[in-house]
Amino acid sequence: VKSAAIVVERLIARQKLENGGNYPETIAVVLWGTDNIKTYGESLAQVMWMVGVKPVPDALGRVNKLELIPLEELGRPRIDVVINCSGVFRELFINQMNLLDKAVKMAAEADEPLEMNFVRKHALVQAEELGINLRQAATRVFSNASGSYSSNINLAVENSTWESEEELQEMYLKRKSFAFNSDNPGMMDDNRQVFESALKTAEVTFQNLDSSEISLTDVSHYFDSDPTKVISSLRKDGKKPAAYIADTTTANAQVRTLSETVRLDARTKMLNPKWYEGMLSHGYEGVRELSKRLVNTVGWSATAGAVDNWVYEETNETFIKDEAMQQRLLNLNPHSFRRMVTTLLEANGRGYWETDDSNLDRLRELYQEIEDRIEGVE
Ligand code: BEZ
Ligand code: MG
Repeated sequence: VKSAAIVVERLIARQKLENGGNYPETIAVVLWGTDNIKTYGESLAQVMWMVGVKPVPDALGRVNKLELIPLEELGRPRIDVVINCSGVFRELFINQMNLLDKAVKMAAEADEPLEMNFVRKHALVQAEELGINLRQAATRVFSNASGSYSSNINLAVENSTWESEEELQEMYLKRKSFAFNSDNPGMMDDNRQVFESALKTAEVTFQNLDSSEISLTDVSHYFDSDPTKVISSLRKDGKKPAAYIADTTTANAQVRTLSETVRLDARTKMLNPKWYEGMLSHGYEGVRELSKRLVNTVGWSATAGAVDNWVYEETNETFIKDEAMQQRLLNLNPHSFRRMVTTLLEANGRGYWETDDSNLDRLRELYQEIEDRIEGVE
């Protein structure tokens, strides 16, 4: 619990610093199963600390009781949460979802000043607006429907089968809006109404990295589960929530913004000669890895707007403009290289990368050359 509290307090301090000293009222948290296994429930403890509830172990060390941490001890308001659990988390940790739901409801029912208890503050408004009772309004633990996983945004991005960001956001809301309810724990209930009304109060999104080996652009599941732009689209002011990532895989846990983490990923992997030369020593597979990473990067533009222009610009410099490199990639794996070319064009077409027309002309030309090459028309 101690290191969980440190991460949460760092996150809050950083957000306050960048937000005129104000506490965030709601944090939308993404919970995965695997990181909780590895860290013995670190992210569960983080959420408990946000709302100011303490798990109390019984004589056998099992946690099945909860206690409200007094406000004087907490030293700040109880922060509201929206808990977005992966399908894997739901499979592995249904009892923990139960505890989280109870913790949130306990906070909502605490008769405290609303400026010191954002869970209660929001739940009271929701109950009024939606014509439901306080416990129903204090629903914050969401996941996919039973037997379902992922928002499927990753598939849409990987196959380029989407028109607008709204389409991706609709997928997220439709698939991730099933609520766990400790008052009726048998089933995951579709509760999009409360999901949306809770999400639109969020000023911050947050997820823990799962391991030091697998980072944000290594796999498509990270951007698939990120609610940042979903929240902007729901908020009345359209404001993008601040997005943070914690690296709890090391002893001294770091809290970084999502953009910083994506930048770090680009610098240490895709744009790092040591990294891509290592990849390219695997030949065909290496180019495939590069193209997958570039697609995942576009995923971060699509779901969170977390990618700086220079990431695409330098990718283009490194792998397209460099003639020798370009030829190497083309020879090693023309299909994956074509995907890199189309992905860069897609990044520009969707407004994620602004660049000189000459770069775009070259990419289009190159696309044609690769097509001819693949079809054997020399
Ligand atoms: C999880 O551990 O919850 C998870 C693993 C892979 C993809 C998505 C989620
Ligand atoms: Mg999932």
